[in-house]
Amino acid sequence: MKKITTLCAAISALALSTGFAIAEADAPVLSIDGVVIATRAPAPEYLDIDEVISGWVFRTVETQALQMDDFDNPGMIFVDQALDDWNEVNGSEGKSCASCHTGGPEEFAGLRTVLPRWNEDAGAVWTMEDYINNSLVEHMGAEPWKVGKAQMNAMVALISLQSRGMPMNVAIDGPAAETWALGEEIYFTRVGQLDMACANCHIDNYGVMIRADHLSQGQSNGFPAYRLKNAKLNGIQSRFSGCMKNIRATPYAVGGPEFTALELYVASRGNGLSVEGPSVRN
Ligand code: HEC
Ligand code: HEC
Repeated sequence: MKKITTLCAAISALALSTGFAIAEADAPVLSIDGVVIATRAPAPEYLDIDEVISGWVFRTVETQALQMDDFDNPGMIFVDQALDDWNEVNGSEGKSCASCHTGGPEEFAGLRTVLPRWNEDAGAVWTMEDYINNSLVEHMGAEPWKVGKAQMNAMVALISLQSRGMPMNVAIDGPAAETWALGEEIYFTRVGQLDMACANCHIDNYGVMIRADHLSQGQSNGFPAYRLKNAKLNGIQSRFSGCMKNIRATPYAVGGPEFTALELYVASRGNGLSVEGPSVRN
């Protein structure tokens, strides 16, 4: 109860604060091994804000620095582990990822920017995790990997890395429109004991301090994210789950249709921002 009271106090204090104040001119620039990352971009026209901003901008100088060099980025250790999985034979067909995707993970350059997206054969919007599990089950005769768990997050990070620096560009129209609209509805619906929506924090109050944390726009372009808090890679839907728990709401299932719709909607709110993967957050 005490925690809830503290959070409520923090939220009511939000109304008094001055808003987001990092001027563009003094803003630090994220460049990783010579690849410049767009951490700010003009907002897509369907949004109610002018500019989209990566979560990296809101982190402390120390946390920002960890992401500026792959040797310092603890998330890269998991990318190496995924590379081992990439080459390891798994399942009844006696194949590894490398057996079919002969161009290496590099074959997937650009893929991260358009996911989640409509999959015509499945008749549904698919995340990268859905594609990976489809290959494991249908092409390799292997067990699917658990969405949100270490092995999956690492492979998503390895594949995302191939798109580093490329702008997010998910489609929200055509057959994906209905899923996107569901995601939008979830984003704006107040839930939980604190009766809050994603939008109340990540649109209305980004830039302010909530407890000791600098509130961002809740963008997904940096995911999977290595969090200093739990010292591992975190998948985007697990992050949604954490935010819902913080407002004392019952989270949707990680890997389920609601969070996939929300993932598409959140990704569309970051169209124009560079893929960072894996990012470093607190
Ligand atoms: C009570 C305020 C609050 C609500 C409501 C909330 N969040 Fe968050 N969220 C936070 C805080 C605090 C953080 C950590 C600091 C930051 O990046 O904003 C965070 C982080 C995130 C991040 C990680 C951003 C990054 O760059 O690492 C995402 C994505 C996110 N939230 C999405 C959501 C979604 C989707 C919802 C609705 C289901 C939601 N949040 C609801 C407070 C909130
Ligand atoms: C036996 C061959 C085979 C193996 C082994 C295989 N894949 Fe695939 N994969 C495919 C084919 C074929 C497609 C495209 C058609 C489809 O989605 O079924 C594909 C599609 C994908 C896609 C979506 C690419 C896109 O552009 O839409 C991803 C991501 C992927 N595979 C990852 C993996 C990973 C990771 C592994 C190892 C865990 C793996 N695949 C193992 C055959 C394979």
